[in-house]
Amino acid sequence: MLYKKHIILGITGGIAAYKSAVLCSLLKQMGAEVRVVMSDNATKFITPLTLETLSGYPVYTDMFASNGNAHEIKHISWSEWADFVIVAPATANILAKVANGIADDALSTLLLATTSPILFAPAMNSKMWNNIVTQENLAKLILRKHLFAMPDSGHLACGQSGTGRMQDPRDIASFVESFFEQNAPLKGKRVLITSGPTREYIDPVRFMSNPSSGKMGKAIAEQAISMGAADVAFVTGPVNEEFLPAPHDNLAIYSIISADDMLKAVESLYQEYDLMIFVAAVSDYKPAQFHTEKIKKESTDMSAIPLVRNPDIASIIGAKKRPEQISIGFAAETNGVEEYAQAKMNSKHFNAIVANNVSDKSIGFGSDDNAVTIYQANGAQPIVINKVDKLLIAKRILECASSLFVK
Ligand code: PMT
Repeated sequence: MLYKKHIILGITGGIAAYKSAVLCSLLKQMGAEVRVVMSDNATKFITPLTLETLSGYPVYTDMFASNGNAHEIKHISWSEWADFVIVAPATANILAKVANGIADDALSTLLLATTSPILFAPAMNSKMWNNIVTQENLAKLILRKHLFAMPDSGHLACGQSGTGRMQDPRDIASFVESFFEQNAPLKGKRVLITSGPTREYIDPVRFMSNPSSGKMGKAIAEQAISMGAADVAFVTGPVNEEFLPAPHDNLAIYSIISADDMLKAVESLYQEYDLMIFVAAVSDYKPAQFHTEKIKKESTDMSAIPLVRNPDIASIIGAKKRPEQISIGFAAETNGVEEYAQAKMNSKHFNAIVANNVSDKSIGFGSDDNAVTIYQANGAQPIVINKVDKLLIAKRILECASSLFVK
């Protein structure tokens, strides 16, 4: 259940900080992507290098350190990246800060900025734990729906015995896993995705295509699994292997070349799927004739290649899908984005359409980021998503998709 989940592990200054290394490693083994934020005091107990090595990502400790990217405000960008935040160990100090809105270092600032669920795993001396102030702060945080892996009783580092031991990292990891199991918006859903470009061959060595890299489709496939999809069928045109979704038991990849192949694959699959997302940049035309041998430029006039229309896969499927099947399309536009997108949504029987302006080279085709507006056939307010990583775009599209299922 932690496949591709974005987890921030916040570590504060307590002796249990050494156990966070184990927690980090467990989360990674369970498929999560982990980024670590450490308070200054935490770095006295365990080195950032240990966590950097285990997470595979530079550790965030200093709010004011330059990271060479003047545009990135890390406590904001990381807080948005996170699907879930764990603070383990959570000292009395961090509980007090969060309970009272104090943001004076990298971790406390990120905790104030994030809208993702936060799980605290407190660890401290039992007298500090039982102190009325700590208990009041705890009550405030529980009231605000923050999550807790409550401390165990037993031997404490100070030599005393009592409540205050951080929970075993395995129990904390299981807690996170069950949280995602219970809060999986696409739990049990079967999702069909078309992705990438199609190629329309003129002869064995020449073809018509477009610059779709497959990044948007890959992001949607991986997010769908991460959000609980039981089965993802990924029908893809030719893309680099790095832009195929990472292998997973719930994922089947169907590689095709042309629009005709894509239609055949989708037609054979779609009846079994609850949600269909048409991300592919399908060539609207194909050569009227395929030359089985390489055309010789000396002997053939190639100044004009007669073309014929390709089948419109989304339209064909849209016209015959069952009412309970949800379909979402993309609209790649360069102008009149809203008008064209709305028209495509209606003509192709989409429940929603994701419009992107592909005239901007920093979004759309081939880029890591996108900026989209989601229009819904039910007349709901359009969802505007400003330029952000395609994975986050994918998450928002799938959250919208899950809201379209009749509960
Ligand atoms: O792959 P990337 O590099 O990450 O780029 C992502 C993207 C720009 C390809 C993606 O964000 C996108 O916009 N995909 C849709 C591209 C497109 O073909 O748009 P369209 O407006 O021409 O088509 C409208 C819809 O009909 C799309 O859902 C398309 O998949 C579908 N269609 C179109 C033609 C056709 N013959 N069959 C179809 O199913």
